[in-house]
Amino acid sequence: MTLIKSLKKLIKSTENKEMAVKHVVYYLFRKKSKTENIDNLMLEYNFFYFDNLSYLDQEIDKLIEKNKNQFLESTPGDIYENITTKNLKKSLGQVYTPKNTVMDMIGMHDFSSITTDSDNKIIDISCGSGYFLIPIIEKYASKGFSVKNIVKNLVYGVDKDEFSVFLTKLSILLKYPELENKDLNIFQGDILFDSINPIDDYKFDLIIGNPPYIGHKNLSKNYKEKLYKNYNTYTNKSDISFCFFEKGYRMLKENGKIIFITSRYFMEGQNSFEIRKFLKNNYKIERIVDYNGSNLFKGANISPLIIKLSKEKSSGNFNYSYLYDEKFNHVDFNQGNLKSDKWIIRPQTQLELLRKLYSETQFRIKDFIEFKQGIITGLDKAFVVTDDIIKEYSLEKDLLKNWIKNSNIYKDHIINVNNYKLIYSKDLDISLYPKTEKYLNQFKSRLEKRRECKKGIIKWYELQWPRKREIFEEEKIIFPYKAKEPTFFNDKNNLFCSADIYIGICKDKDIKYENLVKYLNSKIFKFICSMELKKVGKDLYEFYPYALENLPIINKISFILNYSQ
Ligand SMILES: C[S@@+](CC[C@H](N)C(=O)[O-])C[C@H]1O[C@@H](n2cnc3c(N)ncnc32)[C@H](O)[C@@H]1O
Repeated sequence: MTLIKSLKKLIKSTENKEMAVKHVVYYLFRKKSKTENIDNLMLEYNFFYFDNLSYLDQEIDKLIEKNKNQFLESTPGDIYENITTKNLKKSLGQVYTPKNTVMDMIGMHDFSSITTDSDNKIIDISCGSGYFLIPIIEKYASKGFSVKNIVKNLVYGVDKDEFSVFLTKLSILLKYPELENKDLNIFQGDILFDSINPIDDYKFDLIIGNPPYIGHKNLSKNYKEKLYKNYNTYTNKSDISFCFFEKGYRMLKENGKIIFITSRYFMEGQNSFEIRKFLKNNYKIERIVDYNGSNLFKGANISPLIIKLSKEKSSGNFNYSYLYDEKFNHVDFNQGNLKSDKWIIRPQTQLELLRKLYSETQFRIKDFIEFKQGIITGLDKAFVVTDDIIKEYSLEKDLLKNWIKNSNIYKDHIINVNNYKLIYSKDLDISLYPKTEKYLNQFKSRLEKRRECKKGIIKWYELQWPRKREIFEEEKIIFPYKAKEPTFFNDKNNLFCSADIYIGICKDKDIKYENLVKYLNSKIFKFICSMELKKVGKDLYEFYPYALENLPIINKISFILNYSQ
């Protein structure tokens, strides 16, 4: 077993895992210390050595002995990043930028005019383990600055988390043993609210890093209220990362730069109106590198982009690179053409085509289709059954319906229709179905724990959100809510669907489902979707009704009513 795996196992065996993570990292690197300066740092932060966890130390010693090389090669950041807990990651937005991406981002800054007389201050305002700061120190050192001068006057870091501050300091001292803790400008504080001396007195040339990405669900009510009051970019359901652009603006010199890696969500998100407006109106966008749904981060489901901004009035074009089919495409885009409802950055020819498509029709999808969501059972294990179960329990046939999930749907066929049946249990007297009752009875205690059941809205043997039965028992369009491309199927076989499938019902009897589905699966509609729908993963779009509803139906209405091909 590797060092990391073994350490994880050790931490898993403890009661307070967050404490154990800190204890393990602290103990490991206290062992690695070879200089008095690091010993002094360790002494200052000795509260991360928890006496009640000292029983782990012997085991850690054995692991170091067994994995000596790995231990010697690893940095505090490497170890912490790999053994930290989900809770710590979530509450502080602790996600670590891959080393090559850090280097790419540093490479986006122009260091060419810097000479040893310059006083170009650089800061990472959410510095984590110092992943950005160490290569920046190296970069300055390569320009002839002394390391002491760099850390005393040019390179700064802040993190809200005291342990991260310790990790950054430790990483720098391990790399540069000649430095002392007192030379370093790494501070603990909440950059959005705390006054941090001497950071408040400076204006910076470059703010670089990976601001924490923490959604509204993981912030306390009080904290959110403070954000609303102090940051215009923080509105309903925003992400805290937006405020880092606003705070960054206040901390920059005129013409100073920001280089952040952040989620691409703000370009299209419904709750990102203010951040789009703020960026467009206050900064000159110099560059965007959009991973377009590909994930870069270990253990975090974030589609990132890198954005480089300059604190100056915008003028003209910026370079937008987006990943498509494993390679980057490049577009020069005029900042003035960014719309506040969402940023669609594509070549002018594609935007022109999209504009033309809209201008040729007044019809929207919502004029033709009403959308519904599939069923939430509340416990699939109980309600979704195989033939073997049906036979074993002789389940009553008239409650059983063909059941599909999103992965069953293709444009022109459905796979594995007969693999699963749903027990469609809604508004019924279960005693009339004794075999089904007996079968469901084994799940009774879990079924009773469902919220709707506790509130008395449904009986223990009923589906949680069964929807209206008629929706499923008529002709309809069904489609997965996330897919690579439009995948609409015209179902005439009364399929019952799970909630990861949406259902479209034609609003008018004269509309021919087949024709509508042909349009929805057409190349032109695929193009419209690729421009308009939210990209949520590598080659993955979100087909949510609120977004689909407003897309155009470009063919003449007669095409839909009477498609003859
Ligand atoms: C996404 S991590 C980035 C870590 C590191 N810069 C990297 O990219 O590898 C975000 C960091 O922001 C810190 N953080 C969260 N809220 C903060 C705040 N309000 N002020 C300063 N730092 C904060 C977290 O502790 C975490 O270390």
